[in-house]
Amino acid sequence: MRRVATVSASRRIKLKAPWEIELLRRANVIVMEVLLRLAEESKPGVSTWDLEILADTLCRRRGGRPAFKGYRGYPYALCVSINQEVIHGMPREDKVLREGDIVSYDFGVEYEGYIGDAALTVAVGRVSELAERLMKVTEEALYRGIEKARVGNRVGDISAAIQRHVEGNGFAVIRDFVGHGVGQSLHEPPEVPNFGKPGKGPRLQAGMVLAIEPMVVTGDPGVKILEDGWTAVTRDGGLAAHFEHSVVITARGPEILSRI
Ligand code: MF3
Ligand code: CO
Repeated sequence: MRRVATVSASRRIKLKAPWEIELLRRANVIVMEVLLRLAEESKPGVSTWDLEILADTLCRRRGGRPAFKGYRGYPYALCVSINQEVIHGMPREDKVLREGDIVSYDFGVEYEGYIGDAALTVAVGRVSELAERLMKVTEEALYRGIEKARVGNRVGDISAAIQRHVEGNGFAVIRDFVGHGVGQSLHEPPEVPNFGKPGKGPRLQAGMVLAIEPMVVTGDPGVKILEDGWTAVTRDGGLAAHFEHSVVITARGPEILSRI
């Protein structure tokens, strides 16, 4: 989500009951089924519009509703972002996958009033070594962050772990967009930046559900928004990758809801 510090500071973080966690899990299972299917279909020549239809159809067949469609005016079910596109890329008939692309899929599902949200980046055919390394480091950074999603830690512990892994590998984290709480709304407090300091930010409690989502680039982290009003691209044309999981904090540690 786009950074909006004032909103998240003023609203309270909602702790979820076990039955709510169960609905969030169901929503996230649908999200992952869709994402894994999209990953399978990511071959040269495939139109991102066909992927939009596929995602929408699969989601509804499972009893879900695409959560992004209509959210703040976003017109589609799927966000599909290719190469220098960081997030919020729009599906289009004439936007076609090509050999060597890396493509990020971000998908959200509402199921019985609860929202699942996850993302991943995949290779189309053979990609450069740099692109491979970017995807690997970004996914690893997500897991470094998740590992810190524990009772007693703070949001900054998650943020710092992600930033440290990314920068330690020579890449950079996007600052204009952040992870977020998720539940009955797609974006709830707290914000979960992919940069920050250990020991800072809101304290983590059991029952919090966070969408942790590092967006990582090979070059400078500056972004601009294209004329469509949504697609965020790197200013310098560098490659971007994005991995996201919805995670519940429990007394026993972090549990990934978007995992099947
Ligand atoms: N995971 C993205 C986010 O948290 C998805 C939002 S796309 C939107 O910002 F279209 F719904 F805004
Ligand atoms: Co998200």
